[in-house]
Order: sequence, then structure tokens, then C-alpha cells
Amino acid sequence: MSRLAAGVVLVTAHDPDEGPRGEDVGMTATSFLSVSLDPPLVLVSLREGSRMDDLLAEQPLWGVSILAEGQRQVAGRFAMKGRVSDRLLFADLPTTRGGASGALLVDGALATLECRTEQRVAAGDHTLVVARVLSVAFPHADAAGPLTYFRGNYRHLS
Ligand SMILES: Cc1cc2nc3c(=O)[nH]c(=O)nc-3n(C[C@H](O)[C@H](O)[C@H](O)COP(=O)(O)O)c2cc1C
Repeated sequence: MSRLAAGVVLVTAHDPDEGPRGEDVGMTATSFLSVSLDPPLVLVSLREGSRMDDLLAEQPLWGVSILAEGQRQVAGRFAMKGRVSDRLLFADLPTTRGGASGALLVDGALATLECRTEQRVAAGDHTLVVARVLSVAFPHADAAGPLTYFRGNYRHLS
């Protein structure tokens, strides 16, 4: 699968009960894809037992920021295993809180989506989370190209 080039997103969600990592959680993902146009459904596959999987089992609202090629460091910091606090990671990251989901959306992303989970499917050691798209925004529609991941490295299309 490392031979399959993928776009990189940051999945975010707001935790109403502040956990050890702080009240906003982020997770870098490449398993994000579109499922249906009508109704608009998307999917992300989350490692079972990850902080995001645990949080989305409790509450259905989440956000997605489709990262631009200049946002490699954003992807890197939210992929670190065993990190203590996402609060610190968000502290110096320009974000806007989505009105539909309460999730933080990354400024400068190619597009941001807000979603509500409709279905959770256990699949091996991951959970497939299917969600309806509540809103979409294009903060920088004509910005640079997407951040991609291929053969274990972040890449630029250009
Ligand atoms: C490029 C890239 C893509 C990733 N895609 C996913 C993904 O689709 N689903 C997932 O569960 N984890 C994915 N990960 C791993 C998570 O980002 C990482 O395990 C998580 O942030 C660590 O937090 P945790 O300890 O709560 O799992 C990806 C990591 C990288 C570097």
C-alpha cells in the first residue's frame, strides 16, 4: 500500500470531557475518501484504540482539513505516537473552529469539511467511520498543490 499515493488530511474533534491530551484532538490520516455523493458521505479508517477512535465512539462530530504541500509539519506533529498533549500542538497552529462540528479546522488547508458520523464498522484492527458531510469550505481554493504521501515519505506533486 505504500505504492498507493495518498492525500494527507488532519482529522480533528472536540472533546467535551477534557481528556489528558486536552480538549481538542487531531490525527493525521491518509485513509480518508469519498463514499457517496447523494447523500454526501465520506469515510476514515481509524486504528482501534487510538485517541481519535475512542473520542469518535463517544461523540459524532468531527472535522477534516485537506493539507496543502506547505503543511508537512502539521501532518508530522499529529502523527506522533505516545504524545502527551494535543493542546500544545494546536497552540501555535492557526485554526478556526467549525460552527457545525466544533472541531478545529486548519487555516491554509486546501479544503475543510465538517462531518457527523452515521455508521461505525469494526474492520480488523481499525474502525471504518462513515459520516455525512455537513459543510465544506475552501479557505485557499487556489493555493499550492496537495500534500501527498508515497513510499513512506511526504511528497509534493509539483
Ligand atoms: C502519513 C500518515 C498517515 C496516517 N494515516 C492514518 C490513518 O488513516 N488511520 C489511522 O488510524 N492512523 C493513521 N496514521 C497514524 C496516526 O496519525 C497516529 O497513529 C496517531 O496520530 C497517533 O496517535 P494514537 O497514539 O492515538 O494512535 C497515519 C500516520 C501517517 C504519518
